[in-house]
Amino acid sequence: MLALVTGVAGFIGSNLADRLVADGWQVRGVDRFTAYYEERAKRSNLVSLHANPSFELVEADLLSTDLGPLLDGVDVVFHQAGQPGVRLSWADGFRLYNEINVDVTQRLLEAVRYRSIKRFVYASSSSIYGNAASYPTMESDPPHPHSPYGVTKLAAELLCNAYASNFDVPVVSLRYFTVYGPRQRPDMAIHRMIEAAVHGTPFNVFGDGSHVRDFTYVGDVVQANVLAATGDLAPGAVMNIAGGASTTVSELLEAVGAAVGQPVPLIWQAAQPGDVERTGGSIERARTLLGWEPVTDLETGLARQVLWHRGRER
Ligand SMILES: NC(=O)c1ccc[n+]([C@@H]2O[C@H](COP(=O)([O-])OP(=O)(O)OC[C@H]3O[C@@H](n4cnc5c(N)ncnc54)[C@H](O)[C@@H]3O)[C@@H](O)[C@H]2O)c1
Repeated sequence: MLALVTGVAGFIGSNLADRLVADGWQVRGVDRFTAYYEERAKRSNLVSLHANPSFELVEADLLSTDLGPLLDGVDVVFHQAGQPGVRLSWADGFRLYNEINVDVTQRLLEAVRYRSIKRFVYASSSSIYGNAASYPTMESDPPHPHSPYGVTKLAAELLCNAYASNFDVPVVSLRYFTVYGPRQRPDMAIHRMIEAAVHGTPFNVFGDGSHVRDFTYVGDVVQANVLAATGDLAPGAVMNIAGGASTTVSELLEAVGAAVGQPVPLIWQAAQPGDVERTGGSIERARTLLGWEPVTDLETGLARQVLWHRGRER
């Protein structure tokens, strides 16, 4: 099986590609090494993949590159490329979010429409729910994105559904809830908390510590992608991929301190526009349709992420 992994140098894309080649897939990865965070970090995510003859890297911008050769022979597209993060999606930043999250997805869908691929797995997001009406949030609950980022992730998901219902493109959207683990993006809270605890530098906490998140270990997200690639699913299926536990920011800070072995030094700041109070996803649908369960608890996942941070220092 040949997979195209978009955003392969990123946090989730590189973990997914590692798993696919280990499982015997051929992987064609594409990345443009956007400036969202430093290129060096993304290049180091690919080191072990480059040593594997089943892996091929194409450095290209999905907004403009000819998608024909990229898709040649591809069985499954794992579309992980995106412009992540909530805070930069306001004001002039929005244009880039729209291009990378919406325009790129539409280009890919239009290109696969004329090909016989087996599956197109789209990396959607819990951010499409905003401050949800109920918890744990079900896929049938109405989407109310609370940030421009969430709006673009929802728009792309709706495009996936339109291509599924009009042209039977075999799309599956996985709505990831805050993903963490080795290679986590440097802008994400757990990454910054661990660095702060390791180096004794202050961490800015936005809000009063009562915000609740449903954290999902990257290995569990990868497993959901693998199951979604081959499972018996109707075109346009949408599923929450969530860790299944509710953790407040204050509890998380305690857990990170315990994993590192020293506390996270804190500076308290006002909550930021676009941040929601709570995320928490029902995983019943993924359980039923994919036979998927998150298997990594926060303590285990944090220990693995801390190990990765310490390994980078050497
Ligand atoms: N990390 C999370 O908690 C989380 C939660 C929900 C959804 N998601 C979604 O999962 C996907 C992966 O997230 P991540 O955390 O790994 O982000 P990431 O920034 O680490 O990875 C995204 C990769 O896409 C690449 N990319 C962006 N635009 C491109 C383009 N035009 N052409 C080629 N490559 C391009 C970037 O260079 C980057 O390497 C994103 O779509 C994100 O919206 C992530």
